[in-house]
This record gives sequence, structure tokens and C-alpha cells, in this order.
Amino acid sequence: MSLFDALQPEAMDPIMAGFQEFGADKRADKINLGVGMYYDEDGRIPILRVVDAAEQRLAGRVASWGYLQPDGLPALREAAKRLVFGDAQVDSMGDRIATVQSLGGTGALKLGADVIRRIAPDSTVAMSRPTWGNHPSIFAGAGLRVSEYPYFDPATGGVDGTAMRGAVAAMAPGTVLLLHACCHNPTGADLSAEDWRMLARLIRERRLVPFLDMAYAGFAEGLEADSQPARLLAELGVPVFVATSFSKSFALYGERIGALSIVAADAKQAGLVLEQVKIAIRTNYSTPPSHGALLVSTILGDTALHAQWTAELDGMRQRIRRMREGLAARLSGNNALDFGRLVRQKGLFSYSGLSAAQMARLKEEFAIYGVSDGRLCMAALTERTLDRVAAGIRAVV
Ligand code: LMR
Repeated sequence: MSLFDALQPEAMDPIMAGFQEFGADKRADKINLGVGMYYDEDGRIPILRVVDAAEQRLAGRVASWGYLQPDGLPALREAAKRLVFGDAQVDSMGDRIATVQSLGGTGALKLGADVIRRIAPDSTVAMSRPTWGNHPSIFAGAGLRVSEYPYFDPATGGVDGTAMRGAVAAMAPGTVLLLHACCHNPTGADLSAEDWRMLARLIRERRLVPFLDMAYAGFAEGLEADSQPARLLAELGVPVFVATSFSKSFALYGERIGALSIVAADAKQAGLVLEQVKIAIRTNYSTPPSHGALLVSTILGDTALHAQWTAELDGMRQRIRRMREGLAARLSGNNALDFGRLVRQKGLFSYSGLSAAQMARLKEEFAIYGVSDGRLCMAALTERTLDRVAAGIRAVV
């Protein structure tokens, strides 16, 4: 009996499985509305002009490619902290926040999960129903218990705030509460500012541990507005975890660049927490890669480049909004499903309400790929594909 004899076939999660299947599909007119990447009007993953500019600057740089420290490039760590929490909060309480460079947002989630497992192995991590398919896998894979709280209301395409608050109010102290800061993945249904205020009160009362996934900051209402949940939670006096990604907002998917920030009670505690994270890094991948960190910190550390980046990000958000409106307009008047939700939902994704069977027909008959749960990536639509996608959806509904 060898090590591999008992292996059985195992499926990838539906997002990655679809990504692979799309790659292998030979149909020339195939459209990928599955995996979450932003595409430009020409259907390409853009190289942001600001990233190109930073690349030019780095080309003249005279420095070797030695190891970074486990916690990453200091300039990146500082820039990520300021981006998430804002200058005012960093100036007043920045020494209470431990920020490390991570391998994208997924890497930040995994580091946070490993740290929680190290210091509180009996923790339960509560996540929205539904949530990004990789969330339960990451936290359960780290050895933590995973549970769900109600979130999405299929009838309205929005958040069922009453059910969610009821569940949160009944959580045991110390429960890790996984939240999406904005652009909820997969539904696109976000909490309102008032929802966040009520939730913050409950978190403090119940002594919960919020863990905020900020992968899509900048794509809902803009960077400032999308960062408010992190800043609100940081004031609560409870431990807070924030996972940030630069994959989408800088279109640097393949560079695997992100950050994890952890808010502690004081500077001494933040130092102790940082040691825990560094052990998690060292025992996972030792030290992070440099190139993406150099690009992002060059941009965020330069006033002109920073402004250029914000403008390009605003442009991406506005294009997604136009695609949402374009698709909703083409589908309006359809009685089977309320497609007005496409415009109300935020960020890259919408939970269309299409069934798994309808999604399969879209793929087989129209070469349009989404995720089997009905998630469609609005950021991958273009003016050229809107008509075809709308026709496909009309045909299967
Ligand atoms: C997605 O949800 O499609 C993205 O977060 C990419 C991924 O890794 O699944």
C-alpha cells in the first residue's frame, strides 16, 4: 500500500474549476464572468498606467533581490496601514496596529487564521451565508471551527439585516466574526452605514473578534467610504483583523500582494501579536516576494502617483457601474427575476438569482461562464458582450 493508493478524485472549488474549464474551452466567442478579475473595455486585464509608471521608476533602481524580512517591505507595511485606517487613525493609534505584507488577500486570511489557531485554538469563525467559497476552506483548513450567520435575502437581492443582527447578538464572546467590508463576494449585497453602526455596537457588547475581508476596497463607493468599516471597528476596543488585497485595486493579481493588519489593545500587545504573525509567515513561506510590494509602496508613497492610482481606480468602479446598468436595462421587463438588483449590488459580483441548471445552460449553449451559485462577474462585461450576455440570460430564464 503506497501513500497515494487511497486517493479519490477531488473537485476544485467551483470558481477555480470554472476558471480551468474556461481556459480549456475552444469556442472563440467564450465569455468569462466567473473568476473575479476586472477587465477593461477591450476585454483585457489592464496594466494600470500608474503601475507602468512605477515600473519605469523601479527599472532604474540599483538594489539586489535579497530576502525581505518575514513581515515584508517596511514601506509597504506603512502604506497599507495608512490606506486602510487613514492618516488620522494611524497618527493617533498606529502603534496599536501590527501590519504585515501578505500573499494577496487570501494569504492575509490564512495568516490571520493561523494566528487565531495558535492563540485560541477553540475559536469558532462565523461567516455569512453565502460567502466566498474559499473562506470556510481557509479557516477550517487552519483547524478552526466554522459556522454561518444569515446574510443574503434572495427576495430583495440585499442583506437581511434583521436576521443577521439576531444571529450576531446570540454569538458567544470571542467568536470570530468574518465580515466583508464592501462588495460582498459572491452576492454584491453590502451593509449600509447604519447597519455597520448597529453591528459595531453588538460586536463591542458581545466581545466578538471582527475579521474584515477588504479585498475589494475602492470598488463599491470609493476608497474613503469603503474603508470606513475598518476605521469604525478599530475604535471598538476589541481585537480586529483586517485582510487587504492589492490584486484587484492595482490589477496586480499575479504578484500576490496584500496585507494583514491586526488591532491590539496597546503597543506592547501589538508587538507580541506581530511576533505570532511572523512565526506563521516563517512556517508557511518564510518571507514574501518583493516586486509587487515595491510597486504598491512606490505608488502609495508618492503624492502624484497616489492621486493617479485613485483616479484609475475610480474609472474602474465607474465602468463596472455602467456595465451593471447596461445589463439591467437589457434584462428589464423580465418577470421571472428582478434584475434591478444588478444595479443595487456593489463591486465586481452580482448574485443574479440564476439556478445552477440555468448557469450550466449559459455555459453549454452560450459559452458564457459564471459560477454555479449564480454569481456573475460584472467587471468582466464590456459594451461588446452586453447584448450577447443579456440574450443568453433571457434564453435560460
Ligand atoms: C473570486 O472570488 O473570484 C476571486 O476572489 C478570485 C478567487 O481567488 O477566487
